[in-house]
Amino acid sequence: MRKLLITGGAGFIGNHVVRLFVNQYPDYSIFNLDALTYAGNLENLKDIEQASNYHFIKGDITNEAFIDRLFGEHQFDGVIHLAAESHVDRSISDPLAFVKTNILGTVNLLNSARKHWSNNYDGKLFYHISTDEVYGSLGDSGFFKETTSYDPQSPYSASKASSDHFVRAYANTYKLPVVISNCSNNYGPNQFPEKLLPLCIHNIRNNKPLPIYGKGDNIRDWLYVIDHARAIDKIFHHGKREETYNIGGFNEWKNLDIVELLCDIMDKKLGRQVGQSRTLITFVKDRAGHDKRYAIDASKIKEELGWEPSLQFEEGLEKTVDWYLNNQKWLDHVTSGDYQNYYQKQYQG
Ligand code: NAD
Ligand code: TYD
Repeated sequence: MRKLLITGGAGFIGNHVVRLFVNQYPDYSIFNLDALTYAGNLENLKDIEQASNYHFIKGDITNEAFIDRLFGEHQFDGVIHLAAESHVDRSISDPLAFVKTNILGTVNLLNSARKHWSNNYDGKLFYHISTDEVYGSLGDSGFFKETTSYDPQSPYSASKASSDHFVRAYANTYKLPVVISNCSNNYGPNQFPEKLLPLCIHNIRNNKPLPIYGKGDNIRDWLYVIDHARAIDKIFHHGKREETYNIGGFNEWKNLDIVELLCDIMDKKLGRQVGQSRTLITFVKDRAGHDKRYAIDASKIKEELGWEPSLQFEEGLEKTVDWYLNNQKWLDHVTSGDYQNYYQKQYQG
C-alpha cells in the first residue's frame, strides 16, 4: 500500500490526475488536498468520491502548521503537487496571491516532506508540476528544451519559476528526492471558463463576444489534459530523480486560428450556419506583457519514457466541446456568483 498526496486535485488538471491514479492503482491510498478556491470544484470528482482508495482533505498549502500535522499523521510515500494559482490575467491584477500559494505553499510542502522523510528517503518522491511559461517567450523559431534558461515574464510564471528553483534547491541541499515536469497549455473537460478555450465555448453557446487579445497572433502549444495526466503517471513511476521533463502536444496554434476552428466545430454541433459563430470574434486590448510564443520540445519524455499524446487535436477539441455541451449544469454552476464579478472587471472594466 502506497500513500500518495495529490495537491490541487479538485482543479482542472488535478481531477484528471486523481481519477487516473484512483482507477489505475487500487492498492494506493490517494489523498486529495485542496483548498477549494474559485478554481477547485468537488463536482469534478463525483464519479470517484466513493472509491475506497480515495480521500479528500480540505486545506490550504500555505498553512504551515496544518501541512506539518498532515504529513505527521499520514506518512505519505509520495507527493504530486499541482495546487497553484494558475491564471496569468489574475496574476497581473493580484501578484501577491501567486507568491503566497505558488511559492510559500510549495516551500511549506517541501519543508514538511523533508522533515517527515528525513530518516528515510527510500521509495519517497516529491513530484512538482510546473509550466512551460517559466522559460519565457519564443520568437518565430526554436523550442523550449529542459536545458533552456528560465526567463519568466508574468507574475504567474515568475512564481512558478521560483517554486521550481526551490524544488531543485531542496534536492541539491537536502537531497530530497524530486522530479519536475513543465507542460504546455492544457485543454479538455473541467477547465474553469476563465481560460481561452472554455471561455470561448461558453460565450459561443450564449452568443456573446469572443475576446481576442491584441491581434490574436500569439502562439501556444496545446495538449489534451488526459494526455498530461498520462505523462504525470509515467514520470511519477519511471522518471529519473532530480530530472526535468518537458511535456507538450507537438501542436502549435495561433490564438485566432484556434478560436476560428472552435467556432466551426460549434456551428456544426449547435446546428448553426457555417461562419455564424466567427462573427462573435472581437479584438480587445492586449494582455500586459503578453508572451508571444510557447513551443515545447517533448522529445526527452518521448524517447526516455515512451510517452506521446494519444489524441489528434481536432479530435480532442471535439471531445472537449461535447463535454461542455453535455455538462451545462457544471458550467452554469461555476459561472454564477464570483465569476460574474471577475468577468466584468476583466473584460468590461
Ligand atoms: P486550476 O487553477 O484549475 O486548479 C488549481 C487547484 O489548486 C484548485 O483546485 C484550487 O482549489 C487549488 N488550490 C489553489 N490554491 C490552493 C491552496 N493555497 N491550497 C490548496 N489548494 C489550492 O489549475 P490547473 O490548470 O489544474 O493547474 C494545475 C497545476 O498545473 C498548476 O501548478 C499549474 O501551474 C500547472 N500547469 C497548468 C497548465 C494549464 O494549462 N492549465 C499547464 C502547465 C502546468
Ligand atoms: P490562457 O488560456 O489564459 O492561457 P496562458 O495565458 O497560460 O497561455 O490564454 C491562452 C492564450 O489566449 C494567451 O495567448 C492569451 C489568449 N487569450 C485571449 O486572447 N483572450 C482571452 O479572453 C483569454 C483568457 C486568453
